[in-house]
Amino acid sequence: MLPYWTETYGNAGSTSHVFGWDAQDAVDTARQIIASAIGASAREIVFTSGATESNNLALRGVAQSNRRQGGHIVSVLTEHKAVLDPLNRLSRRGFEVTLVPVAPCDREEVGLVDLEQLRDAIRTDTCLVSVMLVNNEIGVIQQIGEIGSVCRSRDILLHTDATQAVGKIPVDVADLGVDLMSFSAHKIYGPKGVGALYVRRRAPRVRLEPQLDGGGQERSLRAGTLNVAGIVGFARALSLCLEEMQVENTRLWQLRQRLFTGLCRAVDDLSLNGPALETPSRRLVGNLNCSFAGIDGEALMMSMRDLAVSSGSACTSTNPEPSHVLRALGISDDLVRSSLRFGLGRFNTADEVDFAIELVSETVKRLRRMNRLS
Ligand SMILES: Cc1ncc(COP(=O)(O)O)c(C=O)c1O
Repeated sequence: MLPYWTETYGNAGSTSHVFGWDAQDAVDTARQIIASAIGASAREIVFTSGATESNNLALRGVAQSNRRQGGHIVSVLTEHKAVLDPLNRLSRRGFEVTLVPVAPCDREEVGLVDLEQLRDAIRTDTCLVSVMLVNNEIGVIQQIGEIGSVCRSRDILLHTDATQAVGKIPVDVADLGVDLMSFSAHKIYGPKGVGALYVRRRAPRVRLEPQLDGGGQERSLRAGTLNVAGIVGFARALSLCLEEMQVENTRLWQLRQRLFTGLCRAVDDLSLNGPALETPSRRLVGNLNCSFAGIDGEALMMSMRDLAVSSGSACTSTNPEPSHVLRALGISDDLVRSSLRFGLGRFNTADEVDFAIELVSETVKRLRRMNRLS
């Protein structure tokens, strides 16, 4: 990324001089790398500021350009706020939104969308279905390929928020049967503030109402000067993730086993939230979500300043509302409030996992003692 902040500082939109061409070349190369990584063509990639913007462009863009055909959108209760909030705004503007439930925590398919329910929710005026590929709180991997077939058979566009999936599990837009897909650089160790939206160009060609107008960049779908260094970093980060995916996933699986078994040994009354850890095809290997009965997850997190974990969703950690995802699984409010989410990643080591087990278990025991005394 470094040269693109200094000597190769041209604007990728400047077409009349060598400085602009150099920047444009860098963006073209990055676009090709990112497109190939998801089985798309370069012209199907629209660069954005991140997955939040990609989701907004996909949802509002499709809704607004399809208003005449129908104003109904189907999505899922456990989506990220970057999907639920734009859908809320659309519903305030006259669109109708149906949020389908997911399987509850007492079922083996916990967290998965029931295809029958999704099918039933689709109406003749449905213009879009949006289902995330991997959930950020419980790591559940949705059966998007099957959802894609349902949407295809009804001629309805399918969007997926793949922010937690791209670079972590194999993702191919053709296999998934998606028409739009959001993802982001900073979830794969790339720079913050860069993302992309995949927009299918053929069979069918997706029509989108742009949400930003201006200089006509990104084929007028997203105006604004491109973040050249960020885009270069995004592509490099994604290439590294693809190279390391298999080895890294085995390593993370082992680290998560170590973390979970260590915690289970060290503390009583611990329950796992979300799909079983033994099925890697159902749950992202770097994700662990547990409830520590009788403890306030927020207080637990705040008592461990040396451990970067989250209670509920990190993206909404300014919002103290108990996690809508865990609630959607039918987990009691008490257990939802006592939950903690661990994300294991590339730079985590076994020593850090052991440190986490020690710190979490000591803190849980201390807080439980204090609760008994009060
Ligand atoms: C599933 C999901 N969607 C969207 C976002 C928002 O992404 P960004 O921070 O790139 O806007 C996040 C961020 O955590 C996420 O996990």
